[in-house]
Amino acid sequence: MRVILVANPKGGSGKTTLSTNLAGYLASAGKRVALLDLDRQKSATHWLAMRDMALPDIELMREGQKEDSDWLVIDSPAGLHGKNLERALKLAHKVVVPIAPSLFDIRASQDFLAALNEEKAVRKGHAFVGVIGMRVDPRTRAGVTLEGFMEQQELPVLTYLRNTQAYVNAAFEGKSLFDMPHHLVERELEQWQGLIDWLDR
Ligand SMILES: Nc1ncnc2c1ncn2[C@@H]1O[C@H](COP(=O)(O)OP(=O)(O)O)[C@@H](O)[C@H]1O
Ligand SMILES: [Mg+2]
Repeated sequence: MRVILVANPKGGSGKTTLSTNLAGYLASAGKRVALLDLDRQKSATHWLAMRDMALPDIELMREGQKEDSDWLVIDSPAGLHGKNLERALKLAHKVVVPIAPSLFDIRASQDFLAALNEEKAVRKGHAFVGVIGMRVDPRTRAGVTLEGFMEQQELPVLTYLRNTQAYVNAAFEGKSLFDMPHHLVERELEQWQGLIDWLDR
């Protein structure tokens, strides 16, 4: 089983959006997928509860439960640090860090990325970290600042996902972008390619 941890200590950075869409992508690609929701707010769990049985299946994994899917996606809570971060990292093969374009998000993420780089699992090359610009509008000052910040990081920037209601609308129905009619989300799906290529590596 391959494990993807989606993490950023900042609330609202896009963790749940990314986790649910990642799970949706993998399921739509015919993989057996489980989703582990470590957040007490249980947003990913609620999303899954809304999901139509006819859509590609995603299992909800409970903590401590045995799981034999191809992929496990872990959605994590805001404020993840210390022992809990260490424990999640021990499970993970890939860590995806969504960063929203604001001063506060960029600052908080900087400290988190530095902390990640200190973690044993990351230093030993057991868990590979990639960053994603989330809700980015390249025309705004915040978007440009985020792009500048990302370029300075020594971590790969997997992609930028633009700010669009497509994510919000899909979530209402327990769907990911990959469950939507393709002509409605063509640009979005294109933006996912960098992340998808990195997963396969
Ligand atoms: N690319 C995007 N475009 C538009 N809205 C987004 C995008 N990504 C996230 N959002 C919205 O931003 C808010 C915070 O995202 P969420 O995934 O809940 O963050 P977190 O899990 O890190 O707290 C949610 O309302 C979500 O619908
Ligand atoms: Mg969340």
